[in-house]
Amino acid sequence: MTRTIVVTGGSTGIGRATAELFRRDGDDVVITGRREDVLAKTAADLGARGVVCDATDPEQVERLLGELPAQVDVLVNNAGGNTNFGRPDGGLAQLKANWIANLEANLLSAVLTTTALAPRLSTAVVHIGSIAGARGPGSYGASKAALAMYSLDVAAELGPRGITSNVVAPGFTADTEFFQGRLTGERRAQLLEATMTKREGTVSDIAGTIHFLASPAARHLTGQVLHVNGGALPTR
Ligand SMILES: NC(=O)c1ccc[n+]([C@@H]2O[C@H](COP(=O)([O-])OP(=O)(O)OC[C@H]3O[C@@H](n4cnc5c(N)ncnc54)[C@H](OP(=O)(O)O)[C@@H]3O)[C@@H](O)[C@H]2O)c1
Repeated sequence: MTRTIVVTGGSTGIGRATAELFRRDGDDVVITGRREDVLAKTAADLGARGVVCDATDPEQVERLLGELPAQVDVLVNNAGGNTNFGRPDGGLAQLKANWIANLEANLLSAVLTTTALAPRLSTAVVHIGSIAGARGPGSYGASKAALAMYSLDVAAELGPRGITSNVVAPGFTADTEFFQGRLTGERRAQLLEATMTKREGTVSDIAGTIHFLASPAARHLTGQVLHVNGGALPTR
């Protein structure tokens, strides 16, 4: 049966790979993003539908609802990133602004989108967290940790309807716009060395885990954080 999948931030990186994987199943895929040109190109490449929507803006999320069918099977809250890149330090007012920016980008984006779509959902919500949510740093890590806590609320609220809510928490994942050109060769080598697999994560690694969580095999798997990082952060 054809399902409807919504992937926020689906123009690039992990979101794009996720949208592509669901499209391969023949699903109807709606991707969102803020940059209209990048979104339109990806939507055309994948045969998905692109809807411009800033997931941190309540009015835009409400407008997104008008573009969606009565049933949405899977929501992937992927939009986000570390908003501290390129922002100045200094002063409590700036500190506050920096923290709020990361909380908006990574927590409130998911809260607004999930709340808006909840009445229409049928199967799964997958939030994209981060290895940073388990070990920092700063406001980015805190925002992803808070997202994992929010996912528990969603799991409890929607569980009786058979809907799961989980976090997929990537470690370093190559071929995305996440680092905005700021990743040095030295840091990249450190991130690779920290894995047990001795390779970089790929967007397909993350998309595959998201796809599994939305599959029939994962219907009793909810309220969890699945770390996908090649063993860079082992769990017991
Ligand atoms: N790459 C990594 O190593 C890594 C590791 C851990 C976690 N993550 C997480 O993985 C997720 C995907 O990131 P990525 O690595 O694939 O990087 P990316 O290529 O920068 O993808 C992020 C996407 O989200 C969109 N976006 C950002 N803010 C948005 C908003 N407010 N509303 C709608 N769309 C928004 C961006 O497009 P527009 O700018 O056009 O909106 C972009 O397409 C993020 O949540 C990130 O925190 C990444």
